[in-house]
Amino acid sequence: MTILVTGGAGYIGSHCVQHLMSHGHSVVVFDDLSTGYERFVLSPHFVKGNTRDKALLVKTIQDFHVTAVMHFAASCYVGESVNEPGKYYGNNVYGTLQLLDAMRETKVSQLVFSSTCATYGVPQTLPLTEEHPLNPISPYGKTKRIVEMMMEDYSLAYGLNYVALRYFNAAGADSTGKLGEAHEPETHLIPLVLQTATGKRKNIQIFGTDYDTPDGTCIRDYIHIVDIAEAHRLALTYLTAGNSSDVFNLGTGHGFSVREIIQACEQITGKPIAVVEAPRRPGDPAKLVANAAKANKVLGWKPAFGELTEIIRTAWQWEQQVTELPSLSR
Ligand code: UFG
Repeated sequence: MTILVTGGAGYIGSHCVQHLMSHGHSVVVFDDLSTGYERFVLSPHFVKGNTRDKALLVKTIQDFHVTAVMHFAASCYVGESVNEPGKYYGNNVYGTLQLLDAMRETKVSQLVFSSTCATYGVPQTLPLTEEHPLNPISPYGKTKRIVEMMMEDYSLAYGLNYVALRYFNAAGADSTGKLGEAHEPETHLIPLVLQTATGKRKNIQIFGTDYDTPDGTCIRDYIHIVDIAEAHRLALTYLTAGNSSDVFNLGTGHGFSVREIIQACEQITGKPIAVVEAPRRPGDPAKLVANAAKANKVLGWKPAFGELTEIIRTAWQWEQQVTELPSLSR
């Protein structure tokens, strides 16, 4: 079985490539390196390209005899999507449409899609189950929801078999030290806090201290990147076994506030972390916590690195290494 991994040079995609290869799968990475890094491409099979290029996708699928696809390639900043929606509809919706058509033309029918809890919007009830209404509030969340709808329609019309995985907050790094989180610019909480610990940043801003939560800061469900990778492997096994298309949440079911994350980072790094209280960031719901019982029951998935300390410990290991690198050149 050969798996095409779009966005395989990015943070989540590269961890999945490593995990799939360690389980004996052959992988082709397809990535335009606009946000990913060549040094994160762990497969010997790499095609530099954008998913908007259907002809290149078709050629890649044919050349490598691809039998299934995992689709990570996307623009993924909530804030940026508000200011530049065209980029998000272009890359995430149009790019995926080209991929779906390339799969249709080459008769590849198995797809695991990288979706997000941002498809739910502001929670009406917590923890969030897959049945919660889908009212995404950012263009980013909307594009991911639109892709889910496209896959539903392609499934009915053309027999596409897909699994959409709605992740909560991906964090941490694999233990080999080869991979880790490296967004440019970085906007995610844990790497920013750890960069404050290394001295790369002066302080961490807390976006909002007046939320309706026990300490006034936002609560999120942080999930280890290797647990996300394992869920993708299980989703593919599920599809290969002939099961029908479905959607699953991926989270631990435990929420941590921004202040709790900073405290945990101080403990693990042994360094004081300077904090600045700042206004709320637009579009941040107070609390997002997953109910991932369905993934557990149907896919047999269970977070193996569910402890926050493990997430932060591996992220810290990575952050210290990356600080020593001159740059993460593409
Ligand atoms: N935060 C700060 N200071 C910072 C950065 C973040 O206080 O400098 C806070 C945010 O306000 C938020 C929490 O830390 O409350 C987590 O923020 P992240 O940016 O790390 O993650 P998000 O929850 O915004 O984003 C994640 C995923 C997105 C997904 C989104 C859904 O990274 O892909 O959840 O809400 F779309």
